[in-house]
Amino acid sequence: MTKDILILAIESSCDETAAAVVRNGREVLSNIIFSQIELHKLYGGVVPEIASRKHIEKMNQVIEEALATAGVTLEEIDAIGVTYGPGLVGALLVGVAEAKAISFAAKKPLVGVHHIEGHVSANYIDNQDLKPPFLCLIVSGGHSHLVLVKDYGEYEIIGRTRDDAAGEAFDKVARAIGLGYPGGPKIDKLSKEGNKYAIAFPRAHIEGAPYDFSFSGLKSAVLNHLNSCEMKKEEVNRADVAASFQEAVIDALVSKTMLAAKDYHMKQVAIAGGVAANSSLLEAMAEACRKHGYKFYHPSKILCTDNAAMIGAAAYFEYIKGVRAGLDLNAVPNLKIGER
Ligand code: KG4
Ligand code: ZN
Repeated sequence: MTKDILILAIESSCDETAAAVVRNGREVLSNIIFSQIELHKLYGGVVPEIASRKHIEKMNQVIEEALATAGVTLEEIDAIGVTYGPGLVGALLVGVAEAKAISFAAKKPLVGVHHIEGHVSANYIDNQDLKPPFLCLIVSGGHSHLVLVKDYGEYEIIGRTRDDAAGEAFDKVARAIGLGYPGGPKIDKLSKEGNKYAIAFPRAHIEGAPYDFSFSGLKSAVLNHLNSCEMKKEEVNRADVAASFQEAVIDALVSKTMLAAKDYHMKQVAIAGGVAANSSLLEAMAEACRKHGYKFYHPSKILCTDNAAMIGAAAYFEYIKGVRAGLDLNAVPNLKIGER
C-alpha cells in the first residue's frame, strides 16, 4: 500500500475565495467556496480591488473550514497547492502569499498550479477512470481552448479564441438583454423558454484555423438584432434571443471539438470551465460524442466553476512528479498553459 497524499489547495484567481483538501488527486475531503458574486453584481462584473480585499478578509476562514470539514490537521497535509496564474494579479497574490506563509511556517512543500490546468483536472475527480490522453474543451470566463491532454500535466493547445472567451460572450449578451451578472447561468435558464431556431445568428469560420473560436461577430449580431428591434419598435423576445445565441455558441463549440477529436484520433473527450456547467452544452456534447463513438467526460456542476478541489487535483499530479515551487513563487496574471 502506498501512502495517501493529502493536498491543501487554495484558489483566489478571480471572485471565489476557495480552499479544499484532496486525497490522491481524485477524492475531495472538503471543498469550501466563498463566492463574491453578490458583491460584484452591483457593478455588472468583477471589480479587481474589491476582489483582492475580500480574499484577504475570507482566506483564513475558508482554509480553517476546509481543514475542519475534512477532519484533517495541517500536520497531516503533505503539500500546499495554490493557483499562481492566470487571473487578476491582486487576487492571485492573496492566495500565493497565504500558501507561501503556510508552507514556510508548517514546513510543507509548495506546488504552484495553473488555473486552467486546474479546470481540466476537475475531470479526474468526478471520473475516477479518466486517464490521459484525451481532448479537453476548456470554456471559462477568460479562456476558450481546445487542448490535447497528452499526459498528467502535459498539454498541447490546438485551438483558442481569437477574441472573446465563451463565458465572456455569455456575460456580455446577458448584459445586453438585461439579465445582469453573471450571464451564463441566466442565459442557460432563460433559453429553456425560448426557440433556439428563432434567429439565425452567425457561426464564425476562421480560414486556416479550423479549431479556433471567435465570438465577437456573434456578440455584434445580437446587439444589431436588439438595435433593429428597437428601431422598428418591435418587442424583443429575450428568451428567443438567449436560446438562439446559446445555440450558435454550442454549435461552434461542439462542431470544432468533434473535428479535433477526429483529426487527432482521440477516443475520449472532456469539457471544463464555468461554461461546462451549461446544461444544453452538456446535452449537445454528450449526444455528439455518442454519435461519433467517443467517451464523454465532464465535471459535476460545482467543479465546473472556480473551486479549490480542482487545484488540489492538479497539484497532486505535479507533486507526485516531484514538481515543487520555491518561496519566491509569484503571481503570474497572464501565465500560459503548460508553462512553468
Ligand atoms: O471558470 P469560471 O468560474 O471562471 C473563470 O475561470 O473564468 O467561469 C466563469 C464563466 C462566466 O463567464 C459565467 O457566465 C460562465 O462561466 N458560466 C456559464 C454557466 N455557469 C457559469 N455559462 C453558461 N452556462 C452556465 N450554466
Ligand atoms: Zn476558472
